[in-house]
Amino acid sequence: MKYLNKKLSIDKVNLLKIAKKYGTPTYCYSYSRLKENILNFKKNFKSISPLICFAVKSNTNVHLINEISKFGFGADVVSVGEMMMALKAGISPKKIVFSGVGKTTNEISYAIDKKILLINAESKSEVVEINRVARQKNKIVKIGLRLNPNTDAKTLSQISTGKKENKFGVNEKTFYEIINYCKNSQNINLNCLSVHIGSQILDHKPYEKMLKVVDNILKKTSHEFEYIDLGGGMGISYTNENKKLNYKKYNLAIKKFLKNKQCKIIFEPGRSIIGNSGTLLTKVIYIKDSESKKFIILDAAMNDLMRPALYGAIHTTLPVIKSRKVSKKTYEFVGPICESTDKFVIIKNFQELQEKDYIAICDVGAYGMSLSSNYNLRTKPLEILIKKNKIKIIRKRQKHKDLI
Ligand code: LLP
Repeated sequence: MKYLNKKLSIDKVNLLKIAKKYGTPTYCYSYSRLKENILNFKKNFKSISPLICFAVKSNTNVHLINEISKFGFGADVVSVGEMMMALKAGISPKKIVFSGVGKTTNEISYAIDKKILLINAESKSEVVEINRVARQKNKIVKIGLRLNPNTDAKTLSQISTGKKENKFGVNEKTFYEIINYCKNSQNINLNCLSVHIGSQILDHKPYEKMLKVVDNILKKTSHEFEYIDLGGGMGISYTNENKKLNYKKYNLAIKKFLKNKQCKIIFEPGRSIIGNSGTLLTKVIYIKDSESKKFIILDAAMNDLMRPALYGAIHTTLPVIKSRKVSKKTYEFVGPICESTDKFVIIKNFQELQEKDYIAICDVGAYGMSLSSNYNLRTKPLEILIKKNKIKIIRKRQKHKDLI
């Protein structure tokens, strides 16, 4: 995304035109950015030839998943809904892994019927249930077992998953118990050890620690795993201060880990693939002056983009038309929802804004639309994909008649 003639543009398509033609709030995705992320990811991990399963929870748009699938990606899903969407998008069941701490019997049954690659179980009870359902169907099912490596991912506490106080995976002791249980169960094959320590990880060291923990466990058991699923979590740069994860160092650590092992690596990246390809286009409804600042009241709200309200996330926020005049007052960008947490960002020295101006909230491709809701009975935004000069509607704006 850059300014061409002072107009913010995605691949030469100017966002002002889009806002005027399609209305706001609108999620706009850049195909070229998505492709760049995919190729970059593949290039950096080429030497270990992993199976890369896109974390569908980060973005559930069927058209985007379909574009991603064309690069050979599989999918990481966490519900039967996501599994259906991945299949509809053309992802082969042979490349689908199913994660999550609370899969229901129906979900397990659906996954078995669809013959997906792996069901990654997260508790003894779940393993027992998978075995029971598989026996009923007279099938042998490949499963993974998620280890809780008790590793601090050094990310926000709300998106940390790999410490012992987190609900995810099983501890080392239970891990061995389940290996033994699986040995004596006829209908399951324990093929994979999986881990995922958190999201938006910017430092490769927690990954190194995690690999050490996994390595030690593998040394202590004679069980052979066909796959090691390392999850996702690769962090991206949201603001100038955020550096991004060093893939090269992570890849090197994995290469070391794989020495004398015959396993195939699985990754489940979401944010690193789709995060910076999405922009939320929104319009200034009103500007309200207060003593110390001005409230810029947007037509996008926390229901459209939940990350700031939920995690205190900061997204780069830009004017769609650039001007030189700087506002004397600090701006607080807020939505119209009746919650004090319905605010996006506070910015000093932003350019002078007028009512009806357009604003772009950047890097919202991951956990933007997928976390949106109908709170305050607001309809969900339109999604469009910009591919070269072409604009494609990839999800229609919800209508009130869909809701009422
Ligand atoms: N695999 C598993 C088992 C996961 O739980 C997640 C994310 C991923 C893969 C993908 O992680 P990624 O590569 O996207 O970091 N809503 C939060 C993020 C929650 C992540 C949940 N799990 C946010 O907006 O930052």
